[in-house]
Amino acid sequence: MAILLRNARVITATDDYHADVYAAGETITRIEQSIDPKSCAPGTEVIDAAGKYLFPGFIDPHVHVYLPFMGTYAKDTWETASRAAIVGGTTTLVEMICPGKTDEPKAAFETWLSKAKGVSACDFTFHMGVTRWDDLAEKQFREIVKRGIRSFKVFLAYKGALGVDDRELYHALKLAKELGVVVTAHCENETLVDERQKELLAAGKTGPEFHEPSRPPRVEAEGVHHLMTFAELTGAEVYVVHTSCDEAVREAQCAIARGVKAHVEVVLPHLILDHSYTQKDGFNGAKYVMSPPLRDKSQLPRMWGHLRSRTVSTVATDHAPFDFETQKTMGKDAFTKIPNGIPSVENRVDLLYTHGVCEGRIDLNTFVDAASTKAARIFGMKGKGTIAVGTDADLVVYDPNYRGKLSAKTHQMATDYSAFEGWEVKGRASVVTVRGAVMARDGKFVGKMGTGKLVERA
Ligand code: URP
Ligand code: ZN
Ligand code: ZN
Repeated sequence: MAILLRNARVITATDDYHADVYAAGETITRIEQSIDPKSCAPGTEVIDAAGKYLFPGFIDPHVHVYLPFMGTYAKDTWETASRAAIVGGTTTLVEMICPGKTDEPKAAFETWLSKAKGVSACDFTFHMGVTRWDDLAEKQFREIVKRGIRSFKVFLAYKGALGVDDRELYHALKLAKELGVVVTAHCENETLVDERQKELLAAGKTGPEFHEPSRPPRVEAEGVHHLMTFAELTGAEVYVVHTSCDEAVREAQCAIARGVKAHVEVVLPHLILDHSYTQKDGFNGAKYVMSPPLRDKSQLPRMWGHLRSRTVSTVATDHAPFDFETQKTMGKDAFTKIPNGIPSVENRVDLLYTHGVCEGRIDLNTFVDAASTKAARIFGMKGKGTIAVGTDADLVVYDPNYRGKLSAKTHQMATDYSAFEGWEVKGRASVVTVRGAVMARDGKFVGKMGTGKLVERA
């Protein structure tokens, strides 16, 4: 099915212009000032985008869908997560494969792939989690990279669970350097977290509001510093996920200044939520427990500043959906048992637009760059992240005049709560296409499940 988008205001990471855009199939075939529908294939769907923006399909480079974690499983399936992503304007997801320490990497890769393939409505790829290091694992990591998974994920946090030790980190980075693979990393000093958690619990400080003091900014900055030392010595390219505070960004900045190849990601919750949310009564603060934690509100303008200056490359979500009633409450007696994560894959684009673009914190080009283009470039996603002839027809016709409110009652994500209940959004995707197929219209999913493809990566 061919589509013609007329009168569009096309926004990419660098450009802003009016044009008609035509996709005869899965890729964009023409961009011209005016395209006569009669010159298009019979049956072409013509969409009038006057008064709306045309953005490239958004990419969320950090989500969890299938996630065995902290004694439970994240709530979404690829069906619910991809539908939520698409309705919210995100057309490609990058999921972290998180094998347990004794699991074989290849088996984990097959498991994670099987959950998405034939189920997902959006395109997808993975970061391969390195949670162990031995000869067998190394051999399998090489095979997985050959299958097109050109990024790794390491956790410097989660002691005794997913976290790697320094030997494992060193070898993962050396292999990444050899294979030209980017290493994404969750940076917090796991020993400091562990010791501080014990002290707080022993002092009777068990509520969700004590999650942040157990892992303050310096703990995260130390993790980033640690990663940068290893990256410098191995020459590997690294990507710090969910950077929550100025102290951590500055550690990455210092390393970049001395020649380390590093990228910085911020996630939506760290731009618009702060530590006070974890202090909500009735244990509702647990809804906002994630790691690194939500920070003091003085951090938020500093993080927006890093995004505006493009020191921060990408805005992801770290979507990690756990129900409030049956899962977050596992930590009623100890904040260390609250499954970490905030569901947000559906809301990233609208909340970044509302709180970033509408509030004048970032411009439209930075918005597209951070929410789409940079992720495609850093992770080598062919055909993604921009609007140009020959690229995938992943497109978002965005209505800046829409006004609406977010709620768990209406969201597509599988969780029983929204971290943004009642929040206003000032914009919404009115049409979303994935490789030329219309998948969503005005907040409703209209596509076919299972049509998402594993993204080809360079
Ligand atoms: O709180 C978080 N971030 N949960 C998901 C796991 C991770 O650390 O990415
Ligand atoms: Zn993490
Ligand atoms: Zn994560």
